[in-house]
Amino acid sequence: MSLPTRKIGKDDVPYPGLGTMGMSGWYAGFGDTERNIATLKAAWEKGCRFWDTADIYGDKRMWENEELISQVMKECNIPRKDIFLATKFGNWQREDGSRVIVGTPEYVKEACDRSLKALGTDYIDLYYQHRVDKNTPIEDTMQAMKELQSAGKIRYIGLSECSAATLRRACAVVKVDALQVEYSLWETSPETNGLFDACKELGVAFVAYSPLGRGLISGSVRSRKDLTPDDNRWKHPRFSEENFPKNVELVEELAKLAAAKGVTSAQLAIAWVHAQWDGILAIPGTTRIERLEENLDSLKVHFTPEELAEIRKILDSFPRAGTRYPEAMMRDVHI
Ligand SMILES: NC(=O)c1ccc[n+]([C@@H]2O[C@H](COP(=O)([O-])OP(=O)(O)OC[C@H]3O[C@@H](n4cnc5c(N)ncnc54)[C@H](OP(=O)(O)O)[C@@H]3O)[C@@H](O)[C@H]2O)c1
Repeated sequence: MSLPTRKIGKDDVPYPGLGTMGMSGWYAGFGDTERNIATLKAAWEKGCRFWDTADIYGDKRMWENEELISQVMKECNIPRKDIFLATKFGNWQREDGSRVIVGTPEYVKEACDRSLKALGTDYIDLYYQHRVDKNTPIEDTMQAMKELQSAGKIRYIGLSECSAATLRRACAVVKVDALQVEYSLWETSPETNGLFDACKELGVAFVAYSPLGRGLISGSVRSRKDLTPDDNRWKHPRFSEENFPKNVELVEELAKLAAAKGVTSAQLAIAWVHAQWDGILAIPGTTRIERLEENLDSLKVHFTPEELAEIRKILDSFPRAGTRYPEAMMRDVHI
């Protein structure tokens, strides 16, 4: 089975991709290795072959998620060339558990070698700077990435959660091929903060992360009671006691529209992201085969101009409540 493709650099990359973060941490239910391997194998078999990880994705330590990918590729005999593998560096977790953002040239090269080892590969298809280091000029970080590219260790260069101004500065040093930012029915800021415009102008693919609003839009979190103590969403203001009920009003409106169209909320959400512009690739995360299949079926969902206008009207009349990250983490985005 093959999925439709959109461009990242010169590659035709199948979409939607698969976010693998939740398999190794962050959301309740992570760490079920058997289920994770089955889901990744099914993704490969179904042609969902744009996988998104990061060196920081793990529960107890860094590289757990990258190592899971290496494990599944070995155990399931998945040819390396079959997967368009994206990973990220820049969030360094120190031994005491604290995190620091680093983008120095020396660190970029060390981080890349460490990820190659964890992934069990000798090249990364798309290597992102996960967060911009305020203490290192973006030009220096990009120069280091350019050298990694010349050395054949990475094929394409990406940035995540930078500002439009930083993206422009980065593009003056090197061809940036992809930008990864949160974008969904819940979070539409890239439409107005210059990121969409910059990507279109500079020929940068737009990778939409958390397209299901971290499970809020897809309705997998219906009440705060659905969040177990090990679930990180407790810390996210959109899920707070004050904001969650307000956000659920939007979710319910969208669910009515999805039901009237005969699709699920998750399918509506993913299809809506892809319908905004043909330079977007969404990377919904799931740890379950049945949801993977449901999400891939979003490709069958199409909108009339009237439906798109109706959705926009709903978005305009239900302002989202709460920031998408806790205050300290909000300081690290759109730098
Ligand atoms: N660059 C960055 O800073 C950044 C930040 C966050 C995420 N990301 C990337 O983006 C990927 C996706 O984002 P995300 O995982 O945060 O959020 P998401 O894709 O918006 O939502 C994932 C959540 O939705 C649930 N879900 C998935 N499909 C569903 C369906 N059909 N029906 C109901 N619930 C469904 C998942 O639960 P189950 O697992 O139980 O299905 C999970 O809890 C991540 O895996 C990661 O690779 C990048």
